[in-house]
Amino acid sequence: MSEAVAERFSQLYGTEPDGVWAAPGRVNLIGEHTDYNDGFVMPFALPHTALAAVARRTDGVLRLHSADVGGGVVELRVDDLAPESDRNWTAYPAGVVWALREAGHEITGADIHLSSTVPAGAGLSSSAALEVVVALALDDLYGLGLKRWQLARLCQRAENVYVGAPVGIMDQTASACCEEGHALFLDTRDLSQQQIPFDLAAEGMRLLVVDTQVKHSHSEGEYGKRRAGCEKGAALLGVDALRDIPYDGLDAALERLADDEEVLRLVRHVVTEDERVERMVSLLRAGETRAIGPVLVAGHASLRDDFRVSCPELDLVVDSSLAAGALGARMTGGGFGGSAIVLVEAADADTVSKAVQEAFATAGFTAPRVFEAVPAPGARRIR
Ligand code: GLA
Repeated sequence: MSEAVAERFSQLYGTEPDGVWAAPGRVNLIGEHTDYNDGFVMPFALPHTALAAVARRTDGVLRLHSADVGGGVVELRVDDLAPESDRNWTAYPAGVVWALREAGHEITGADIHLSSTVPAGAGLSSSAALEVVVALALDDLYGLGLKRWQLARLCQRAENVYVGAPVGIMDQTASACCEEGHALFLDTRDLSQQQIPFDLAAEGMRLLVVDTQVKHSHSEGEYGKRRAGCEKGAALLGVDALRDIPYDGLDAALERLADDEEVLRLVRHVVTEDERVERMVSLLRAGETRAIGPVLVAGHASLRDDFRVSCPELDLVVDSSLAAGALGARMTGGGFGGSAIVLVEAADADTVSKAVQEAFATAGFTAPRVFEAVPAPGARRIR
């Protein structure tokens, strides 16, 4: 893989790259739409990665090429990079260069060739993988010595300000910080982290990812509306973030929001979702892995009914897989399309997968893509 990317780099730019880096996409086990409420999340890295072959430049020129989109090399000047000036894929890598420079790091240019196996628009963090791989490469090449969580913050800033998508910190942190064989229990308030061993195969289970092929986009309004609604809830309740509402204070908080049904539902999702993350962590620590199934299902119901970010295809994955014997299932990522995860006994994996495919065919939906997810390593240099 790294050979092919390096070779393509040489064809494009006429020199060898200084190195090749990889950053993964992610699935989120639990903790959805909690990251911009200072709450808890628990993603793990996928084996699908964005690769970047990169060489340093000293003349202020940034050249970008992607194997995954049509078109040739895009040439920019680092001095000209400006927020929301670019609506193309190049905004992700360019945004990272902009964010690094804005934070005071002297980046004097680069030649970059990108190639990714993270499916785009599938809710599996293809954008974060692109951002993190570029950030890690530049951190290495320019000897910046930034910590992984700092790289994640800079990538989030690139996406929030340069790309203009109001996302939280989960995806970038997952790509930068996850470890093989583990799920990342992350407190998005202070970015403190615990690696939770997550080896389903050893316990006779599997986790399937079902990509519904329904495309989503976070720069479109619905994500931002949910985020604004949560901020309104926090303001009405007099807290910095919804994270600050104690689980046993939820009923009292909801009573205070009785006049605003919309906000009430958003708040109920976020607070119960944080609680589900903590419950999941306790269950995994206690070795009660099969018991996480119902937690996944409750999380989906909350996203569907209270937060309202599901869609018929995601609901069908959950309903049809549970009917076929899955232990649990829920949508993962931002929603409005994208992917769902399904927890199954290893022996049932094929049956459940077929049942979901058949349900999609019967409903007249596009055939979903199903694959097994095993926690893979986070971002790293590979050459
Ligand atoms: C997207 C965002 C994340 C997070 C999830 C929902 O993936 O990029 O920051 O908000 O949606 O949990």
